[in-house]
Amino acid sequence: MTEDTPELIGSNHAIFVPVPIKFFKFSGTLAGTRGARFLDGFESRTLYCGQKSPTHPEETHTAMPEMHKPGAPGGDFIPEVKHTVAVSSGKGGVGKSTVAVNLALALKQRGHEVGLVDVDIYGPDVPLMMGAKGRPGMFENRIIPVEAHGIKIMSIGLLVAEREALVWRGPMIHSAVQQFLRDVLWGPLDYLVFDMPPGTGDAQLSLSQVIPLGGVVMVTTPQDVALLDVRKALAMFRKLNVPILGIVENMSYFVAPDTGARYAIFGEGGGEKVAGEFDVPLLARIPLEMDTRKGGDEGMPIAVGQPDSAQAKAFRDLAEGVVERLDSLSALKLPTIG
Ligand SMILES: Nc1ncnc2c1ncn2[C@@H]1O[C@H](COP(=O)(O)OP(=O)(O)OP(=O)(O)O)[C@@H](O)[C@H]1O
Ligand SMILES: [Mg+2]
Repeated sequence: MTEDTPELIGSNHAIFVPVPIKFFKFSGTLAGTRGARFLDGFESRTLYCGQKSPTHPEETHTAMPEMHKPGAPGGDFIPEVKHTVAVSSGKGGVGKSTVAVNLALALKQRGHEVGLVDVDIYGPDVPLMMGAKGRPGMFENRIIPVEAHGIKIMSIGLLVAEREALVWRGPMIHSAVQQFLRDVLWGPLDYLVFDMPPGTGDAQLSLSQVIPLGGVVMVTTPQDVALLDVRKALAMFRKLNVPILGIVENMSYFVAPDTGARYAIFGEGGGEKVAGEFDVPLLARIPLEMDTRKGGDEGMPIAVGQPDSAQAKAFRDLAEGVVERLDSLSALKLPTIG
């Protein structure tokens, strides 16, 4: 038996639960459990029993249940979610959070119900960028997400104090992410967008397995050094059978507001190049623009702060591209048996 709260599972998790695993749900009270410190203040919660798969009885490494099932993006964790989209990149600081936040808002503006999960446990920027205030509430032992600009949000940044350093190992991160899905009252959603952490290391790879992804949007800046990282990330998602929806080239160019001159600060054509190499569409080219940075810092993303701007339109076009790609990919899916 295991429990899904980081502090409880601790190091045991890594040696205890075999993969693949089946979860059997029952209720139990942990009020008397010594040393149980809950991430979210729960006093009792649902426990999960793991049963070893007879096909891999010898496997004893970190628990990472395979959640990605083609045709069922939400899996059993979030049955009311129609589509899941990750915004990722091999590289840090290229604008993943900015794209994730504005994409979520642009999807909302198209009339969809949207949620946003901040999977960046070490650098959760979504609450600040969305201007999300307050802590998540509780209802019948489930977490009520915080809402900002009409988007339901879950982030570790809403649960821990600002500037508190988190030193979590991989299994703890898995548990937190699983909890963000399973234990949050998302309600019916058309799209759940994930803001992924940078990198292609162990943590990133495992997170991609934990999250039932319908597709991934890959963000890059145009220069070669960013492309190196994005190629690695693309190859990783391909290996994990996560559909690549397309590339977003962020900070593509800068138009000087005084002269109108256009500058390719980070070089040119990188997004197109990598999209061609992987045979996926270039979904958007987003310019480097001061109000976009400001909107993120002030909790008023450009998509809602200046909905008539060219930048906001670029994000709406991106949302349209994402919707179309997800629709065409799910139309291509063959029916599965069993
Ligand atoms: N198109 C843009 N124009 C202007 N500023 C931008 C743009 N995109 C992102 N930024 C700014 O660049 C900084 C980094 O962006 P962001 O935090 O979205 O990147 P990230 O890839 O999520 O970073 P990390 O890897 O740290 O999570 C932020 O200050 C953001 O406001
Ligand atoms: Mg980020």
